[in-house]
Amino acid sequence: MNIVINGGTRGIGKEMVLLLSHDKNNNLFVTGRNNKILQQLSEEAEHRNIFTFEIDISIFEVLEKQFIETLSGYFQSVDILINNAGTIINKDFVDFNKDEAIKIIETNFLGPAALIRALKPMLIRGSHIVNISSMGGYQGSSKYRGLSYYSASKAALACLSECLAEEFREDGIIVNCIAPGSVQTEMFEEAFPGYKAPVTAREMAEFIAWFAIKGSKFFNGKVIPVALNNP
Ligand SMILES: NC(=O)c1ccc[n+]([C@@H]2O[C@H](COP(=O)([O-])OP(=O)(O)OC[C@H]3O[C@@H](n4cnc5c(N)ncnc54)[C@H](OP(=O)(O)O)[C@@H]3O)[C@@H](O)[C@H]2O)c1
Repeated sequence: MNIVINGGTRGIGKEMVLLLSHDKNNNLFVTGRNNKILQQLSEEAEHRNIFTFEIDISIFEVLEKQFIETLSGYFQSVDILINNAGTIINKDFVDFNKDEAIKIIETNFLGPAALIRALKPMLIRGSHIVNISSMGGYQGSSKYRGLSYYSASKAALACLSECLAEEFREDGIIVNCIAPGSVQTEMFEEAFPGYKAPVTAREMAEFIAWFAIKGSKFFNGKVIPVALNNP
């Protein structure tokens, strides 16, 4: 399978890259801003099947042409896109300035959306787009103080997934969205210092990697809460 993973340098994304690259039948095109880690992932891949591209997803359009040219050098088509990159700022709504609000929306919503649009011509019939949202962005879930813009950006990504499943139906492209609960990652530790999540990055990565490969047979246009708590 040809798999594109956006945001694969740490946390859940990095674990997914490591897991999926163990299968020599998979080829991975991995993005992130940390080029050192991207290079390391590529060099250490047992099957030499990890290709990388350094990009800030919040300004995807700046490098869009180069991104597609580089990707096309490795892949003729794409089977799976996991839109995993995301950022969080934990502070009260009234304390957000416009730049911070824009950064979250661009990273968590507009960037991933632009990536889907750019990849669309390469997504074959039966391919699967998995957008990573959050329980915070799941309609009707309990909300956390301080995560207003983060949750709203994730809700937008979830809704986009439902819309695109319909728009891409005739092309046979499946679009789903995973809404994880708390996962012990660098992001979680930065946003909630001292708190302990019930799930490790590896465990969530195992679920999402499985879902990305198998889920398109059973789900389309779904936003799936993956959390122990009730919404
Ligand atoms: N951890 C949780 O509790 C939790 C819960 C619900 C949902 N999620 C979602 O799950 C996804 C992964 O989260 P995580 O906890 O693994 O986070 P993480 O440890 O902070 O990793 C985030 C990944 O996104 C990339 N990224 C961030 N900003 C980027 C940008 N502007 N451009 C390109 N790449 C960027 C990072 O790479 P670089 O640093 O190299 O850019 C990194 O690879 C996120 O979308 C997050 O919102 C997490």
